[in-house]
Amino acid sequence: MASPSARDLRRIPSLTGTPPGIDLDDLPADPTEMFAAWLDVALDHAVPEPVAATLATVDGDGVPDARTLILKSVDARGWAFAGTASSRKGEQLAACSSAALNLWWQPIMRAVRARGVVVEASSDEAAADLAARSEAARAGVDPQDWRLWRLVPSRVEFWQGSPDRRHVRIVYTHHAGTWQLEPRS
Ligand SMILES: Cc1cc2nc3c(=O)[nH]c(=O)nc-3n(C[C@H](O)[C@H](O)[C@H](O)COP(=O)(O)O)c2cc1C
Repeated sequence: MASPSARDLRRIPSLTGTPPGIDLDDLPADPTEMFAAWLDVALDHAVPEPVAATLATVDGDGVPDARTLILKSVDARGWAFAGTASSRKGEQLAACSSAALNLWWQPIMRAVRARGVVVEASSDEAAADLAARSEAARAGVDPQDWRLWRLVPSRVEFWQGSPDRRHVRIVYTHHAGTWQLEPRS
């Protein structure tokens, strides 16, 4: 078997999904609604594990890190995820609250990207999140260490890939308390 270094990675197909239709003249006014609409499409198309997301953080020296985790909810309060305070992500978020989330839905060639500031939810919410996990997922977790965080986005990008490479980027930015859609180039 060829070693990875001997392979030409460019020969491995990418962007092989099938884009669903998109009505660019009828976009929701805010990214929370847009995310809900896109998640419905992902579920309709049986996208595997559509709430698995990559969370990027930075440490106290400004060095970035990223890992996969599960998005717990997306609403007006933010994009929620959970883990332990004593983890790297917990330490990094304590040092720097700026973070980003990224999701890639291969079968429908869609990606969602959000960046902003992370706030810690209440201990009651964290306890409720932990209680909702399976027994296996709770095993070994110190309840005092469990956190629910929310990324409060300032920018959210919805990316629709296209086989002809005419990809579409829909970007919402938050200005003075309201969401604005960036003009598409
Ligand atoms: C599909 C998937 C889902 C995961 N979900 C979570 C999660 O919800 N919370 C979590 O803390 N780690 C989750 N993990 C593990 C993280 O990727 C990571 O290994 C762990 O959180 C430690 O990361 P850290 O050292 O950067 O804190 C998940 C991993 C995978 C592959």
